[in-house]
Amino acid sequence: MKVWEIGEAFGLENLREVQREVPTPGHGEVLLKMKAASLNFRDLLMVKGMYNPRQPLPLVPCSDGVGVVESCGEGVSSLKAGDRVIPCFAPDWSSGEPTRDKLRTTLGGPLDGTLSEYMVVPEQSVVMAPEYLSDEECATLPCAGLTAWSALVTHYGLKAGDVVLAQGTGGVSLFALQIAKAHGAEVIMTSSSDEKLERVKEMGASHGINYRDVEQWGKAVRKLKPLGVDHVIEVGGADTLEQSLRAVKFGGHISMIGVLSGTLSKVNLIPILMQNLRIQGIIVGHKEAFESMNKAFATHQIRPVISDSFGWSELPDAFALMEKGGHFGKIVISF
Ligand SMILES: NC(=O)c1ccc[n+]([C@@H]2O[C@H](COP(=O)([O-])OP(=O)(O)OC[C@H]3O[C@@H](n4cnc5c(N)ncnc54)[C@H](OP(=O)(O)O)[C@@H]3O)[C@@H](O)[C@H]2O)c1
Repeated sequence: MKVWEIGEAFGLENLREVQREVPTPGHGEVLLKMKAASLNFRDLLMVKGMYNPRQPLPLVPCSDGVGVVESCGEGVSSLKAGDRVIPCFAPDWSSGEPTRDKLRTTLGGPLDGTLSEYMVVPEQSVVMAPEYLSDEECATLPCAGLTAWSALVTHYGLKAGDVVLAQGTGGVSLFALQIAKAHGAEVIMTSSSDEKLERVKEMGASHGINYRDVEQWGKAVRKLKPLGVDHVIEVGGADTLEQSLRAVKFGGHISMIGVLSGTLSKVNLIPILMQNLRIQGIIVGHKEAFESMNKAFATHQIRPVISDSFGWSELPDAFALMEKGGHFGKIVISF
């Protein structure tokens, strides 16, 4: 079978297409014929050796994908050949709070990921793919979709009428927009592009702020919402947290999700205590939440936003687009 792997060293230039043996499913495992995969920022960092420089190589990158059950190992009872399923990012985390053990086995590092013609996974570590979505759309859900869901629904308990601020127009933030709208919440988005801000308004965002033009965008949010927003989807990290602390209301909530602008920052901590804020670290989510999310998506007929779709052999171009930041939504690889 064909797989993409990070070869003997990290770096986009070391991505290579190779042949491996088709694996055999053991007890409680299924063999999937993969149909599509999607890229996350984490995958780019993994390929470049910036996510975990000690990751043993070679590694099949990418955590997200969708496949069809080709065959079942002994003892498999919940799946049959032909079922279309999505592997979970963290196969050992079915519900509840995460632990180190539950997060030791994530796909796309340390375990081989989804850029593989076939893969074997435990039957308990997949969810059924929503029928109304295409293969490409299903492949976008496990990391970006579930992360936005975990932030807003699992940890925050989003309610109708809440105001959500989401940064940028990448995968996580666009899912956050769609999830928030489906709950009857209002959404303010930031972006480096006026054109992308027009597009999020067409999707239902009430306001858009260009964070390149308006450096103090936290203040701009306060002009729109004098009490501040209820919830922030924080994907920028080092350079954005300070503005998020300005934008959020007394007693509000910030989901720390990404570090696109860096990991180290000097911020004034006083608002966190004096305004009784909650800052919650988010690490994707568990299978139970993934299944709830898929039900909600089907009810509201939410369709993931696909920015660009690449063929199997175009993987390096797909990563190059992500690195350039030219996308709006998810980048997918169709097998
Ligand atoms: N904790 C978790 O479980 C988890 C899960 C998924 C993702 N993440 C992290 O969350 C972040 C976003 O992931 P993603 O998959 O949505 O990425 P993505 O699809 O690549 O989106 C990135 C977008 O964020 C915006 N952006 C870039 N730099 C920014 C900055 N300094 N301030 C504000 N916005 C900025 C840009 O939007 P514009 O072009 O509109 O400016 C860019 O297109 C990444 O750091 C990723 O590693 C974490």
